[in-house]
Amino acid sequence: MASEIKRIGVLTSGGDAPGMNAALRAVVRKGIFHGLKVFGISRGYEGLIHGEIEEMSIGSVADIVLRGGTILKTARSAEMMTEAGQQKALDQLHKQQIDALVVIGGDGSFRGAQTLAKGIQIVGIPGTIDNDIAGTDLTIGFDTATNTVIDAVSKIRDTATSHERTFIVEVMGRDCGNIALQAGIACGAESILVPEIPYDLDEINEKLKRGHQRGKNHSIIIVSEGAGSAYKIGEELRSRSGFETRITILGHLQRGGNPSAQDAVLAAAMGGKAIEIILAKETNRMTAYVNQAVISSPLEVAYGMRRPLNRSLYDLANQLSI
Ligand code: F6P
Repeated sequence: MASEIKRIGVLTSGGDAPGMNAALRAVVRKGIFHGLKVFGISRGYEGLIHGEIEEMSIGSVADIVLRGGTILKTARSAEMMTEAGQQKALDQLHKQQIDALVVIGGDGSFRGAQTLAKGIQIVGIPGTIDNDIAGTDLTIGFDTATNTVIDAVSKIRDTATSHERTFIVEVMGRDCGNIALQAGIACGAESILVPEIPYDLDEINEKLKRGHQRGKNHSIIIVSEGAGSAYKIGEELRSRSGFETRITILGHLQRGGNPSAQDAVLAAAMGGKAIEIILAKETNRMTAYVNQAVISSPLEVAYGMRRPLNRSLYDLANQLSI
């Protein structure tokens, strides 16, 4: 590893998330502030493998702080999962004499980064709407995506109330129920289905019926994509209850939009912290948000264990929607 760090690379990888641009801006500007040369790598590991590397300037990250998506573009790279791909990535970094790499992405992207750690200093910044990374209370993009879901569900509730229908709203999260739980609590969903906790459709049906007896003829059921198909769940509930059901799959709109204030600030703080970690010559680290502070944390925690769901929040949601 180089004794003095002069040149660093930065890439965004995996699913894009609102706030990635704000994190990139902080890495570039704080890096330049400390006298580093910062190189932007396009299209995640795909671009790295193919040498799509360009030096960034203060101006190259102007006007992006509140823009959704990632100006570096992103990809899911199958080649990076192979040893040959990892070697090509490392060769490209060495060719450009890059001493340290900042990876903004999720746990899969961190796993990819870790394969490069034998030849280069590595720092991860957790950026994914899923909030599924162990070791950090928050990931960049989660708050914005949750607010997007809340906005959509409040619109759906208007039509659900008017037509007296049960809506099944499917949200993203892969195999993590955090978006469903957080949004479900915030918008008072009648049921929240998450992959981490088994559910019983008979119980949900009973709840629908209890509501009906009280004169409540509409319901919102939020299903995290990893908990099952909204179409199947909707059909099961329609046949058990006899109530009219409709399905909404929110899909990729959850990944777009300007970052919320919380995400933009978190992204800036994490981008800045990544540079501090590099200057301190730490490697295999990630920036983490713990007890309301951004700290340096071991990268392996992110992909070595599963992030537990907040069980007490889940129980509370059930108690509030009897
Ligand atoms: O990890 C972010 C995420 O949006 C997940 O919630 C979702 O399962 C997945 O990415 C979708 O990936 P893609 O955009 O490649 O279809």
